[in-house]
Amino acid sequence: MLVSAKEMLTKAKAGHYAVGQFNINNLEWTKAVLLTAEELKSPVILGVSEGAGKYMTGYKTVVGMVNGMMEELGITVPVALHLDHGSFDGCKKCIEAGFSSIMFDGSHYPIEENVAKTKELVAICAEKGMSLEAEVGSIGGEEDGVVGMGECADPQECKAIADLGVTMLAAGIGNIHGKYPDNWAGLSFETLDAIQQLTGDMPLVLHGGTGIPADMIQKAISLGVAKINVNTECQLSFAEATRKYIEAGKDLQGKGFDPRKLLAPGYEAIKATVKEKMELFGSVGKA
Ligand code: 13P
Repeated sequence: MLVSAKEMLTKAKAGHYAVGQFNINNLEWTKAVLLTAEELKSPVILGVSEGAGKYMTGYKTVVGMVNGMMEELGITVPVALHLDHGSFDGCKKCIEAGFSSIMFDGSHYPIEENVAKTKELVAICAEKGMSLEAEVGSIGGEEDGVVGMGECADPQECKAIADLGVTMLAAGIGNIHGKYPDNWAGLSFETLDAIQQLTGDMPLVLHGGTGIPADMIQKAISLGVAKINVNTECQLSFAEATRKYIEAGKDLQGKGFDPRKLLAPGYEAIKATVKEKMELFGSVGKA
């Protein structure tokens, strides 16, 4: 059964490790993340962007696939199904469809509007036992065609949003989605420290987990990050493994055109990436 992310993140923050959110795009992705979490006895969050939700034909399909897969694969570790960077409407749809967690990305609204909309969702999520992530300070890079500037969040605004009763808070600290440019200035630990001092026990969320050096990840965890999102890195490893398979050519002459064979190397590559991240985040054995 899907669970809210609240308990797993409270434990992670107290235990000084982070739970990975791995974004899913299709059946292979979902199966790879779920089975790796189960093998490593790690809690896990399945992230679904609005674009990926649409690609998989809608949120109800995603909920059906994940619930069915958890039952038939015998998954026992805590799993949250989470809307990633949701619009206000998207959040409502996911609540309706049976997600156990949502992120409302109101970072592009003026703070007053972000507060008002977040408040409404806090009330609904509390009633339904769902977890809610809010965002302050936009996270740079591109996600589903939307390019953010990668600003650092204002710690006072973070506190204002945290005090509304959200479960976890994503704050921009110089992190960006996708690959980091060569001239990237790195994470602003000063900002993170100031946010953590004002928000106390609130689990903080680090977006743009792809390509952040291990020492920065560990430092972020030590300063209150309890959830780390990874998307691009799984996509890159999937694409690279698939490319190699196709370039090997001969496979396509035999039974290699069978999609179950064609997608197998990519599936294994996602598993390896998820394992590596769970080990780095320290969530192995914490289920
Ligand atoms: P990356 O694609 O950089 O791993 O970021 C994922 C993310 O933050 C999803 O919200």
